[in-house]
Amino acid sequence: MARSERSESDVMADLSLHEHVSGQISRLCDVAGLTGHREGAAELIGLLLGAAGENRIGVLSSWPSGVSDDTTPVEFSVAFDTNGKYAVRVLGETVGTFPEWHFLDSVADRLRLATDRFEAIRDLFLAGERQGEFRIWYSLIFRPDTPARLKVYLNPQVSGPSRAVDLVVEGMRRLGIERACAPVLASALTRGTLDRFSFFALDLDGTAQARVKLYVTHEAAEVADVVRAASLVAGIDPMRIQEFCAILGGGYGPFQGRPLISSYSFVGGDDDRPSSYGLYLPIRSYVPDDEVARARVLAVLAQYDMNSAILDESIAAVSARPLRAGVGLIPHISLRLGASGSGITVYLSSEAYSVMPPRGRSVLGLVSSAQ
Ligand code: TRP
Repeated sequence: MARSERSESDVMADLSLHEHVSGQISRLCDVAGLTGHREGAAELIGLLLGAAGENRIGVLSSWPSGVSDDTTPVEFSVAFDTNGKYAVRVLGETVGTFPEWHFLDSVADRLRLATDRFEAIRDLFLAGERQGEFRIWYSLIFRPDTPARLKVYLNPQVSGPSRAVDLVVEGMRRLGIERACAPVLASALTRGTLDRFSFFALDLDGTAQARVKLYVTHEAAEVADVVRAASLVAGIDPMRIQEFCAILGGGYGPFQGRPLISSYSFVGGDDDRPSSYGLYLPIRSYVPDDEVARARVLAVLAQYDMNSAILDESIAAVSARPLRAGVGLIPHISLRLGASGSGITVYLSSEAYSVMPPRGRSVLGLVSSAQ
């Protein structure tokens, strides 16, 4: 694999995973105008990584994570909001330390976590043997003039696919949103085993904006399938969804590579339907390399009059490799539409362990020559 093309200076410097990721997050905070979060962010990631933070980068970890394709247990994202502000987030998993939720106890005071909703549902997802890919993931969220926040992702597949709907329905019942169950199932889980619940997430802050978020993965979906899923949220223009898929994914589907994912957000008062919808497009499956991915993201940012300079500065904050030397530095792009704010989020990989090689670019010409 093209290891030498990636963060060469970091590998040469024999950095630990924590050092490598700390550099990336500090630079991202600077880009997004979040300098006040620089040190806190690097420290929190250190606590999240635990012992795995001591791994040398470039040397594959013995604790692979599903958070990213190269098994790095961390992935960054920069949220562009329509109000011109940015949030930087870090999705992470504590690997090789048990129990995996120890991190929560270690930051409960520092982040003033409100854990009552988590406590109400934790036995559903954290008790018993794990069958799915993970048990708990975290997202650290950094916004201007706001303390760092934490979101947890639980795994509906943790007791196997046959239990997933029951776990989610019971979780929704305990959180007082059971009236939304039937509408969610009817809008997003319509295609048998092709649609499945993939995450059950909670914001662990005590604010009025704290969300319950449900994610549904749609294998081999057409745009019409995610338009139907989005229609559960009032006021969404289907054009926004169609355009997003066409520009970033290159068409209307079926998206046969990595799957599209929908999310529904519920905040206080949304007890019979969600007030926001999110669509996640795994762009890395639909482009030959990251230079093409960047070009498509620029097109979407321009469409919404968002600051494209921030995209390039964010990319430079995490990687110095040529964009066309690999694919997956930009793994997903999401579109958020809803009552509590809309925007575009760009995900960025740490690529601490490896770079996925690029695919060949398309050949322009006639498929077969007519005689
Ligand atoms: N790596 C997993 C995937 O691609 C999970 C994941 C990480 C993910 N970040 C994400 C899924 C952002 C959707 C959006 O599915």
